[in-house]
Amino acid sequence: MAILQMTEKQTTSPQTLSRPEQPRASLALASDPSKALRLAPTFQPDVDLLTAEGLIAFGVKGSGKSNLLALLVEQLGRFLLPQIILDTERENQSLAMLLPHGVLATAQRCPSGYDIIHKGLQVILDLHSWQSDEAAGLALCQLLDELFTATNAIAPRDRVPCAIHLDEAGYWLPQEAVSYLSKETRKSLADAFHKLASRGRKQGLTPLLYTQSISEVAKSAIRQAGIKVLMRQTLDVDLTRYCQYIQGATARTKKAIQAYPSGKAIVILPDGSQHKVQFHERQSEHVSHTPQAQAALVKFAALEIDVTTVPMRDLTTPAPVEQQGRAGAGTSAQQPGKGKQAPTAKTVTERVHDLLTVNPALRVVDLMKLAGCGKTTASRARSAYFERHPQLAPIHKTATERLYDLLAENPTLRAVDLRKLVGCDQALAGRARVAYFAAHPEREVPVERVKRPEPVAQRVYDLLAENPTLRPVDLMKLAECSRTTASRARITYFASHPEQQVPVGQAERNV
Ligand SMILES: Nc1ncnc2c1ncn2[C@@H]1O[C@H](COP(=O)(O)OP(=O)(O)O)[C@@H](O)[C@H]1O
Ligand SMILES: [Mg+2]
Repeated sequence: MAILQMTEKQTTSPQTLSRPEQPRASLALASDPSKALRLAPTFQPDVDLLTAEGLIAFGVKGSGKSNLLALLVEQLGRFLLPQIILDTERENQSLAMLLPHGVLATAQRCPSGYDIIHKGLQVILDLHSWQSDEAAGLALCQLLDELFTATNAIAPRDRVPCAIHLDEAGYWLPQEAVSYLSKETRKSLADAFHKLASRGRKQGLTPLLYTQSISEVAKSAIRQAGIKVLMRQTLDVDLTRYCQYIQGATARTKKAIQAYPSGKAIVILPDGSQHKVQFHERQSEHVSHTPQAQAALVKFAALEIDVTTVPMRDLTTPAPVEQQGRAGAGTSAQQPGKGKQAPTAKTVTERVHDLLTVNPALRVVDLMKLAGCGKTTASRARSAYFERHPQLAPIHKTATERLYDLLAENPTLRAVDLRKLVGCDQALAGRARVAYFAAHPEREVPVERVKRPEPVAQRVYDLLAENPTLRPVDLMKLAECSRTTASRARITYFASHPEQQVPVGQAERNV
């Protein structure tokens, strides 16, 4: 990536690799649990660590970068931070429903940098919605410029952090000439992201970059990100680059990383500590059919800020880069014929159709929230869409059918599990289960296999399986149980896995 022939980051010193004299709290676990980002059982850093340091994640396709992006967006959303998700593959639209002030933005409807900062919006910007990547790239530069203008005008003590996530960063910041971007736009993008990486954090603008190949990124750029996430790589050239960052890496480390499952990574923190992490899966993946999404919709619908009143500009043809500085604070609202008007019926219908193109499973209630319209409009627009595209209409399943589907997939599920998964009452789950096994007796699993270990103990076992160096005090926090329970479960775990017990004093940063 081109951002990368750049200056070095001053705040983070890679020479802090040696262990401090006094044992101190690990940066991997926030000392204040209310500020912890729940990213993995053993990795729950402080939200301010992430926004102060920025992040760069590497990994081959399928290694879990986009999942990590969504997970971070969801977790940062808990703190109501403004965020911009530069969505290259249209895989983040469902996040809008989980986020407190989530907005789906396109070339035709894009909030200003000023509004993003001042109204705390989480904007999922569909980079596909521009006519060309060239136009999308220029619009991106304009938006970043507006963010700098907006944050510059705020007194340092009043600034709030704003996270800017760029998925497929290598695509937008290529080191060499590419067919889809002109030389000038490639340079403008490189300059804009360089400025963001080197000067953004001071103003609260934090870049989080996700890209495939570490060997295509200049070392200076890697240094600029305080948190490095190394996911699966397959090529030796990338694995060799990884080893320059991993303390004590051997040929076995390379082999292990080649075999990492999706979501597994070595995370290197600003203090040089290294952590083997299996990230959680994003929540928003299943947003359109889980009961949690319903709860989120109800909750956010009651929030005060009406995102549909946020002025939206047409960025199809962005202003020339040299004029952008003046575009700053709130000017979007003054654009002729755009911002101040309420969306017209046609706009809303189009918007509903766009949303359904991306996710035909969206219900009327989801569309109302996302398109910012009333029930009748959403319902009419939805019907019109499926009249035109009957093959895309979702097949509605009854709760019983969904229960059968779940049991077909996993016959060890108990009535209580089924109730949670489908969101039905337990009696129905129980009846459906009995009926299912009456029809498929060969699939019924003996009771002893259905019975699960006690949940808290299981949580402790899972944590230790991932990181056997965890102490009872860590386990207690992570599994949310008493110290005695944590300690007992730990003893039980090592009684059956003595080979995993780590000698006292060996830190959890081993990889
Ligand atoms: N932490 C995780 N736990 C379990 N599965 C994951 C995790 N991260 C990713 N996956 C799965 O791996 C696949 C690829 O993930 P994705 O994030 O799209 O990878 P990438 O963006 O690196 O190509 C997806 O099907 C996703 O569900
Ligand atoms: Mg991806």
